[in-house]
Amino acid sequence: MRTYQFPNPNTKICASIGFPNKMTKSPFMHNAGFAYLNLNYIYHGWEIENIKDAIHAMRSFNFLGYSISMPFKEAVIKYLDHTDEAVQAIKACNTVFNDNGVLIGFNSDWIGALTTLKQRIDLHNKHVLILGAGGTARAITYGLKINNANITILNRNVERAKKIAEEFDTQYGDINDSGKFKDYDVLINATSVGTKSKEDCDCRLCHFLQLSTYPPKYESEDSNELFLENRIALDVVFQRNNTEFTQKAQEKNFNIIHGHEMLVEQGAFQFELFTGQKAPKDVMYSQLKKGLDN
Ligand SMILES: NC(=O)c1ccc[n+]([C@@H]2O[C@H](COP(=O)([O-])OP(=O)(O)OC[C@H]3O[C@@H](n4cnc5c(N)ncnc54)[C@H](OP(=O)(O)O)[C@@H]3O)[C@@H](O)[C@H]2O)c1
Repeated sequence: MRTYQFPNPNTKICASIGFPNKMTKSPFMHNAGFAYLNLNYIYHGWEIENIKDAIHAMRSFNFLGYSISMPFKEAVIKYLDHTDEAVQAIKACNTVFNDNGVLIGFNSDWIGALTTLKQRIDLHNKHVLILGAGGTARAITYGLKINNANITILNRNVERAKKIAEEFDTQYGDINDSGKFKDYDVLINATSVGTKSKEDCDCRLCHFLQLSTYPPKYESEDSNELFLENRIALDVVFQRNNTEFTQKAQEKNFNIIHGHEMLVEQGAFQFELFTGQKAPKDVMYSQLKKGLDN
């Protein structure tokens, strides 16, 4: 409990910014952490249309930290004073810290994913099958690469997978071949599949997960083709407590990492950067889970 009037003129201001962003869950976890540690900080969720203006506002009003959401993770970079090595490699920034007027960009998405994975497995020489080739897949590929994993990236748009594969020296392929890989140690859903209850999409992943609105199309649509026994699964989708991906993985005794666990780990990095204090992850996690759909 805070022992002083809150908020007050000295309250440090942080925010999640994106578009759309009305449904952001980040304020739940960050504000719970601030209150628990009696910190004079507040975290908002702002829906913005212009990233240049948002960065200008950060400088003018001395806001302390931003979490950057879609679609500004790439566009924000050119307005910053410095970026760390990860942002330069991934070419996306999801965290801005205002260090006494100097704006520094970080990427905590890869940290969230890698922290949760490394709690379960030594990734050195392990085969990781990544479904998806968007910004999150890119960030995770960066983290896996510096941990010496062997990576295969499968995507609906194969050109996108090829681009990441060439940059990070990985294997790549078509998501419709996802049932063919019988030797992975870790399976990652880095697509946005699972955020909605149905997908207007005919790809094999959507058929495996019984989310496709189309009639059966592939020789086998049995998810056992994709989900081997007793592996590790990470689903980046955090909007729901349980997705079709995590349910199928559960049926095959996977060690499961839910998207909200990754979200808390990436948020913990931001919390520690903004406050200089150790993040109370348990408090942040339980408050975040209350804000999620089932
Ligand atoms: N848990 C966390 O901490 C965390 C952090 C960051 C992001 N996320 C989540 O990660 C997800 C992806 O974000 P992003 O920034 O990477 O998005 P993005 O850059 O737009 O990429 C989306 C990816 O999903 C694929 N995809 C979309 N619909 C699909 C479908 N029906 N079937 C197969 N593939 C489909 C896309 O394939 P194509 O290229 O073929 O279109 C692409 O690979 C979002 O749900 C986001 O909320 C979670």
